[in-house]
Amino acid sequence: MDLEAELKKRCNAFNNYWKKFLPEGGPADLYNAARHLTFGGGKRLRPCIAMLSCKSVFGDVESVLPFAAALELMHNFTLVHDDIMDKSDMRRSQQSVHIKFGEPTAILAGDFLFAKSFEAMHDLSVDLSMFKELDYSLIECVLDICRGQQLDVEFEQRKMVTEEEYINMINKKTAVLFELAARGGAIIGGGNQDEITACAGYGLNLGLSFQIWDDYLDISSEEKILGKDIGNDIRNGKKTLIAVYSLQNASGENKKILDEIFGNRNASDDDIKHVFRVFKEMGSIEHARNTGFDYIKKAKNALNPLRDSEAKEILMELADYSIQREK
Ligand code: IPE
Ligand code: IPE
Ligand code: MG
Ligand code: MG
Ligand code: MG
Repeated sequence: MDLEAELKKRCNAFNNYWKKFLPEGGPADLYNAARHLTFGGGKRLRPCIAMLSCKSVFGDVESVLPFAAALELMHNFTLVHDDIMDKSDMRRSQQSVHIKFGEPTAILAGDFLFAKSFEAMHDLSVDLSMFKELDYSLIECVLDICRGQQLDVEFEQRKMVTEEEYINMINKKTAVLFELAARGGAIIGGGNQDEITACAGYGLNLGLSFQIWDDYLDISSEEKILGKDIGNDIRNGKKTLIAVYSLQNASGENKKILDEIFGNRNASDDDIKHVFRVFKEMGSIEHARNTGFDYIKKAKNALNPLRDSEAKEILMELADYSIQREK
């Protein structure tokens, strides 16, 4: 199967649908800031997962599009604010919103996208009780993202974080949105309770490994490929799984290097490469990779109760891709 072609097909259908939520308007800067990221690329994984989950329970994909739009709008809102918090200058291979439009406009563009997410929900054609269930789930999800993001920034100031604390943090900041995408897709598709639970388990576990891999790419990739700043997590002192494992186990020269460079906003590109070598030597990369693979196994196993379908096969491949992707 050509996974990229399968995803592209769904992305195109989604892109044709969701653009109506972000027309041009005024004040122009606010609208342009809101449209900057949304139309500037992105993998559209959450919408694709919602569409595929819907299809995997033999639902009508058209019916899930408003929900998929709500997820992508919410995701884009979190990215705009995340780049301010993380001092990230680049996103989707262009300037991040606060760099291009300034922080005040970026904060407002984020708020704008947040509200637009709920506007998209109102395009759903489902009965009131299902609407309330989905709407409430979206609210719960965003509250969790706020909790997770707050933990993420608080952890920057902490000397040490346990693996359990890290997993809890990424569960909230990242995995819950993937879980909602998969679960909501199955609900709207008319799946039974077992199928809905199966999809939710898939999304949650995929989301965990997705963030573990994102953290790896932040240090291992190149700006040209990733479209984001490289080494930002090291400069910010982010407690990624890779960092947590190294900070817990480092001694001697390795500890000295981490003390000097980790959390240092002025670290050079060579410093970042140095820390990457330390992480590798200490087995932290291997450890994170293995942990990510364990979650992917769980994600795929979760899909067992689903009947065989093309959508199920694509979801399976998507799970492998999420931890092999280059961006
Ligand atoms: C980035 O998500 C934020 C994380 C949760 C790591 P994506 O990697 O899905 O970003 P886009 O939408 O493709 O730009
Ligand atoms: C992002 O985590 C999580 C959310 C946006 C909620 P990161 O901060 O690692 O995402 P990137 O690397 O900036 O995309
Ligand atoms: Mg962040
Ligand atoms: Mg970030
Ligand atoms: Mg990241």
